[in-house]
Amino acid sequence: MDQWLSVIRAARFAGVTRGELQARIKCGDLPSFDGMIRVEDLLKVYPTTRLEDERTLERLDRIKAAALGTDIVRRSLPEPEVLARRLSALGHRFNRVQQQAEHYAGVLEALESHLRHLERTCSEAACSVVRDIKLRMQSMLHHEQDGSGAPAEGVSWLSVMAPQVRLLPSNHEFLVEGTDTVLQAALRAGLSIRYGCSDGHCGECKARIVSGEVREVHPHGYELSAAEKAQGHALMCAVSPVTDLVVEMDVARTPEQIPVQSIDARVRAIEHPGAHVLVLRVRTPGTHRLRFLGGQYVRLSLDGGQVRGMASLANCPCDDRNLVFHLAEDRDDPFTAHCFKRLREGDEIHVEGPLGDFVIGDEIERPLVFLACDTGFAPIKSLIEHVIALDVAHTMDLIWVSGGSVGHYEDNLCRSWDDALDDFHYRPGRVGAVGDPGAWRAAIAGSLARVGDALGRDYYIAGPTHFIEAATDVLGRLGVPEAHLRIQRIPPPA
Ligand code: FES
Repeated sequence: MDQWLSVIRAARFAGVTRGELQARIKCGDLPSFDGMIRVEDLLKVYPTTRLEDERTLERLDRIKAAALGTDIVRRSLPEPEVLARRLSALGHRFNRVQQQAEHYAGVLEALESHLRHLERTCSEAACSVVRDIKLRMQSMLHHEQDGSGAPAEGVSWLSVMAPQVRLLPSNHEFLVEGTDTVLQAALRAGLSIRYGCSDGHCGECKARIVSGEVREVHPHGYELSAAEKAQGHALMCAVSPVTDLVVEMDVARTPEQIPVQSIDARVRAIEHPGAHVLVLRVRTPGTHRLRFLGGQYVRLSLDGGQVRGMASLANCPCDDRNLVFHLAEDRDDPFTAHCFKRLREGDEIHVEGPLGDFVIGDEIERPLVFLACDTGFAPIKSLIEHVIALDVAHTMDLIWVSGGSVGHYEDNLCRSWDDALDDFHYRPGRVGAVGDPGAWRAAIAGSLARVGDALGRDYYIAGPTHFIEAATDVLGRLGVPEAHLRIQRIPPPA
């Protein structure tokens, strides 16, 4: 019997990104039917895949851990109680399969006995047909015992360690690891599902479970009505799957689908990776996190609303509580001047957003080129981390050009992406004559020449106005259509 895997599971077993697998499907290397891949076909394309060997599964985790700076492997164990429920569910499944197998063995035995009887009693011509049927049956049974149709132990192992969730109607899939709730796992997978408080009080994350079993892992104050419970509704911030799930829940794909939120937060840390650049870390309350898409920006208010400014988010939307901003020193701007001189850890800060449409869709069709200048790196970093979480892109180039005193203040992070991700290329650049537009154009054109064929790619450009003008001019001369460009001015517009 054929074994089938969803794309997300097949990617995990092969130790590649979902984007790479989808590219192989698209170009016809790997057949797929209704979003499912036959194990036999996967093994032909990735012969080193071992379904029973978790080492291939860990490879992608290691890449993500290196790229996002999180210890994914350590938190991948489920709670003992959840694990026990999953093992019990798996045991029931095996019992059912065993009963079916015994039933089919009985049917086969009866069939063989009937064929033997026919062989003894029928005419010579009919006997040859009977013998042919027997031979075919033996050959097919032998083929099954060879192992080509044997159950894939790894598939069962993965469903215990990391059940899969499929969202309807979008058909997005993700795995739930460790003690994660469905909401946490969706966010880690880069998916913006609907939610509010994250701790079981607002009811915003309520969704209908179409199939599968969940277990409550967090207490919640929001009470579902008896009718909702009967229909299979549950709070996604409070439950973890016991088995694979299908859930009815929309995924936000565009900025318009995410409401503007207003949050009182606190400054968690202020870092100075360079003399003229500041990294501001802000923590929201646990019950009021910021839902956003990678690349968006917010309005920040300090000093009881006396000082305001716009800043791009520099972190992945998968971490909706620990917000990060990069600010370049600008003495003429009261907001940045306040941040550099007066802001202290623990200060109150009001966050309003998200704003802007400098975002990435979840269906990435072309290789991505990111062009950043100075702290234009902030929204680009957020986008790259979002793409890594979504696990969909197969080729990314990052060109980070610095002209003045800001420099490549997160150079090590970019190099770690270059090392950890198969098709990621980091190309830092410098401009000496910062007042000369020709020097900017030359630096950008030089870096783009190393990327290769300019057409057929999508470009994300973030930086001050002079950089955006230079980049769009160079890309226009190369014939890149405007529809392939996304632009974010730094600082973002008020
Ligand atoms: S997000 Fe508020 S109850 Fe789940």
